[in-house]
Amino acid sequence: MKILVTGGLGYIGSHTVVELQNSGIDVIIVDNLSNSEISVLNSITNITSIEPEYHNFDLADKEACNLFFNNNSDLDGIIHFAAYKAVGESVNNPLMYYRNNLESLMNIMDNMNTRGLSNLVFSSSCTVYGQPDVLPVTEDSPRKEAESPYGNTKKMAEDIIRDTIYATDLKGIALRYFNPVGAHPTALIGELPLGVPNNLMPFITQTAVGIREQLSVFGDDYNTHDGTAIRDYIHVVDLAKAHVIAIKRLFENKNKRDFEIFNLGTGNGYSVLEVVKSFERVTNTKLNYKIVGRREGDIEKVWANTDFANKELGWKAEQDIDDMTASAWKFQLALKK
Ligand code: NAD
Ligand code: WQD
Repeated sequence: MKILVTGGLGYIGSHTVVELQNSGIDVIIVDNLSNSEISVLNSITNITSIEPEYHNFDLADKEACNLFFNNNSDLDGIIHFAAYKAVGESVNNPLMYYRNNLESLMNIMDNMNTRGLSNLVFSSSCTVYGQPDVLPVTEDSPRKEAESPYGNTKKMAEDIIRDTIYATDLKGIALRYFNPVGAHPTALIGELPLGVPNNLMPFITQTAVGIREQLSVFGDDYNTHDGTAIRDYIHVVDLAKAHVIAIKRLFENKNKRDFEIFNLGTGNGYSVLEVVKSFERVTNTKLNYKIVGRREGDIEKVWANTDFANKELGWKAEQDIDDMTASAWKFQLALKK
């Protein structure tokens, strides 16, 4: 199999390239380095002893995209990670997000359609559920009005894929990730946030290592057991493995419908303070944190029902919250060297 991985030098993409190559699958990466570093290519090569083919261009550039597919019409599938993902930035610059996230997708699907390439795995997000009325959320839970332009790009992308598949011979799987955290056990790849992290785990590790002074815990007045918000954190390596299964499922025609959607989480919710406690436990350190007010736009609690992914994909997240905090910490320490 030969698979195109867009955004393959990014956080989740790089871990997925490693799992694909370790499964004997040939990979071509397209990434314009808008949120990643070229050194990740070396790290992937070091982990797998295989250097993946790499192309640097903007997938939202239709001509560049067409040119790439002109020269690569023998792909067995595409895993499409490339997108902008900063929620706050999308609120301030919505057109940048709609343009990048949706034009890239449409350029890819246009080429799939005209060149008879049929298998697409797409990175969606639990953000499409907003604050669910019933927990845990299943794939049939209603999607809510998006909280941000970023969230809306995921909702719209799912609809674009569904409608295009309905009208063509394409097949696709949308994977709705819950909260990906952690890093590869080698600590050679992991999450590399630019500037001040928005997400909890990199903020925790940067605080512990002394880059940030203090973690602000956003709100302790939620309707949860300790008052802090609950999420379903999932180890990035578990997430990456699900992509290998999903693309093989399409390639081997094992899919039950032309467009399938799967939740990817552990099925367990952890509060912010439980994540902090896990971090303190596995690192044997005290984290400097302070409870502050809620963050605007945050939901109270969400975790996944993963029955459908467990049964249909034969996939289950294996790593627990302590594995996640420990690997994130190991990666943070490796960055210092
Ligand atoms: P990331 O920013 O680390 O990786 C995305 C990669 O795509 C980057 O390397 C970036 O340089 C590249 N890219 C972006 N736009 C591009 C373009 N137009 N052309 C070529 N390359 C481009 O993000 P990630 O955390 O690895 O997320 C991957 C996907 O998963 C994204 O679609 C994201 O929205 C989705 N997702 C992420 C999370 C999360 O919390 N990390 C949760 C749910 C869904
Ligand atoms: C987790 C919890 C915060 C930082 C975001 C996107 C979502 C998806 C995943 C892409 C929340 C709390 C955080 C901090 C804190 N991405 N927190 N102090 O908000 O669940 O989801 O990433 O699709 O779309 O919105 O993740 O890691 O930012 O926050 O207390 O400094 O940690 O309030 O409860 P979130 P997160």
